[in-house]
Amino acid sequence: MGSRFRPVLRDLVFVGSRSRLQLACFLPYSGRFVGCTMDHLSSHPAFSKVIARLSLTLISSNANMTSVPIAHVREASHADFTAIKELLHANALSSEGICAPGAVYLVAVGQSGTVLGTIGLELSGRAALLRSAAVQPEFHGNGLGRQLTYKAFDKAKECGVRTVYLFSTDAGNYWRRFGFESVPVDEIARVLPNSAQVQSYSADGSLASEVGWRLALEP
Ligand SMILES: CC(C)(COP(=O)(O)OP(=O)(O)OC[C@H]1O[C@@H](n2cnc3c(N)ncnc32)[C@H](O)[C@@H]1OP(=O)(O)O)[C@@H](O)C(=O)NCCC(=O)NCCS
Repeated sequence: MGSRFRPVLRDLVFVGSRSRLQLACFLPYSGRFVGCTMDHLSSHPAFSKVIARLSLTLISSNANMTSVPIAHVREASHADFTAIKELLHANALSSEGICAPGAVYLVAVGQSGTVLGTIGLELSGRAALLRSAAVQPEFHGNGLGRQLTYKAFDKAKECGVRTVYLFSTDAGNYWRRFGFESVPVDEIARVLPNSAQVQSYSADGSLASEVGWRLALEP
């Protein structure tokens, strides 16, 4: 389980008038307002104390707020793959072919080192298949998926990828937010014939019932 969310300077914005200064707090990776204000900030000499008090107020005044972990995203190592598999299975996703040649995985890791989210890329020249996007169920909806997705785009660009594809029957509206547009699955099979996921769907006959998505990466 990750640590509680503690705001830092960049998460805070001022609202209100000069005589009645208030702070509003935003989650760092979702940009979402989480509430909490503090009056008369100027009367506090040490800003760090204000942040500490704000953090406490946030936690105590939001009894039902999920404790949001601070996570950083890094490339997965061999040692992460057991946790990645468990995470995929917890989200009802297949782990078949995740260690195939050309596959690169990223993980979002909490302060304790726990894997909180993952995403994979199957790289093939100028194209890549994005797959295995998954976040620990209790932390869904806190921006980790988005953070992982943008890091995967950065990684793909670093590797010379211009076009990212993915399969998604149920989460198409999520991917539309990043600019993905639907494409025939045949296009993915033609462009990425060696992708482990393409081969798996072709072998078990499920390719035709999949939905394909494509995004041209900005340079
Ligand atoms: C899809 C997933 C990776 C997104 O990660 P996340 O950290 O929960 O999502 P984010 O915080 O980046 O985004 C949250 C927003 O996406 C929306 N969203 C999440 N999953 C969605 C889905 N399957 N379809 C449409 N929208 C979805 C949420 O409703 C939320 O919307 P809001 O901002 O309007 O409140 C995560 O929900 C997950 O692990 N899902 C189960 C596995 C899965 O379906 N993976 C995708 C396979 S193609």
